Amino acid sequence: MISFAIIGRSVQRNLLRSANMVAMIDHDCHHSILCLESFNFLHSSSRQLHSESSKKRQNLLLTKRRFSNHVHYNQIQLEPCPNSFQANDAIIKILDTKDRSKKPDWKELVFGQHCSDHMIEIHWNQNEGWQTPRIVPVHPFCLHPFAKVFHYAPEIFEGMKAYRGLDGRIRIFRPELNMKRMRLSAARVCLPDFDGQQLMELIKKLLIIDGEWVPPYESKASLYIRPTMIATDEALGVSPTTKSILFVVTGPVGPYFSTGFKPVSLLADPKYVRAWQGGSGDRKLGSNYAPTMLVQREAIKQGLQQVLWLYGPDHELTEVGTMNIFMLMKDTNGKRQLITPPLTEGLILPGVTRQSLIELIRSQNEIEVIERVITMAEVKQLLAENRLLEMFGSGTACIVCPIGQILFEKQLLNIPEHEFTLKLFKELLDIQYGIKEYGDWVQIIGSTL
Ligand SMILES: Cc1ncc(COP(=O)(O)O)c(C=O)c1O
Repeated sequence: MISFAIIGRSVQRNLLRSANMVAMIDHDCHHSILCLESFNFLHSSSRQLHSESSKKRQNLLLTKRRFSNHVHYNQIQLEPCPNSFQANDAIIKILDTKDRSKKPDWKELVFGQHCSDHMIEIHWNQNEGWQTPRIVPVHPFCLHPFAKVFHYAPEIFEGMKAYRGLDGRIRIFRPELNMKRMRLSAARVCLPDFDGQQLMELIKKLLIIDGEWVPPYESKASLYIRPTMIATDEALGVSPTTKSILFVVTGPVGPYFSTGFKPVSLLADPKYVRAWQGGSGDRKLGSNYAPTMLVQREAIKQGLQQVLWLYGPDHELTEVGTMNIFMLMKDTNGKRQLITPPLTEGLILPGVTRQSLIELIRSQNEIEVIERVITMAEVKQLLAENRLLEMFGSGTACIVCPIGQILFEKQLLNIPEHEFTLKLFKELLDIQYGIKEYGDWVQIIGSTL
């Protein structure tokens, strides 16, 4: 049986940005809820939105959104998950040394090309819950072609790194934040909840077993950790999953800036949107990434490196490629401020690096950090007034990545200087490699080389 529901007009308008008709799932009764837009309403309202381009209206819109009443990511408290798997129950099967893969040349590492020897694998089904976790040699999965992940994309993932410090010990950086984000991502696509602490303990066991895959300090490389969960029920139909697999694989990756700290050039084309209010851009779902590939290819075709994701009629800056965005500017009194768009809208992935940079800079008490909307009009104006000092992206892969140029409405904007960005890069890197201590941000794993 299908039931129909009318959903709020503001949500409808935002959904409309990507589709005229959207199918959603009612989690309780598993009925499809079809958001059937009245085309008359839609057409008139979207026309209105674009034709009313007066500054007054734009300011009103921005003010409303800046102070909107959404819950900040940091304020979301997750309930404990009592029925989770337990790390201490793990069954461990380790490869003989002679059967392990040959390590690559640490200086020639390419992202995502080398997989370590072992993986975590945990199955779940609706009737029996989580099964015993296993740490086993990496192996392919055998899935039925009906498996839900192949059709409707219930897939979530995380990205974190293990670093070998100067002292030879392995460190992971704020993994509890990745665990929280992964649980929130799981909830967004009806994958099962789990205890983040237990998954972290399993990851630590995996890192001890595959410790020799964490590159030496001198290489400035690291071990990328990819926790993932997929829906595997062998049934077609858009409904919450009844069967899934949580797995964690790892692989060594090279330093992001192996040939120097280089600014990137960006395509900012308002015709493409990565995420929208009421959507899922604030969760790490595989389905958020597939549609970005075409736009990334478009950027390359135009001789640029990455995409600057804009949103709404005001061309708000939201993210850069798969990074959060920051802008260092001077206010009218010449005081430096670091601005980053707020997480309160659901448009932006709450980056671990973003949060860490905000906390680090706030603790230094030198530069004010403000979470607020940035528009392209503001970027242009600040550039014209020589008040835009630097812009950069932030993420686990690069830590920070300076922005050099933005192509927007056929105009190439040159973004100045990268001194501050470089300083941040070194500061965070020093914490991650254990050169500097910073609170409880780093967890040390048992194995040394
Ligand atoms: C869309 C998006 N934004 C931002 C980030 C940065 O997040 P983090 O700092 O946790 O790596 C990522 C990477 O995970 C991402 O995919």
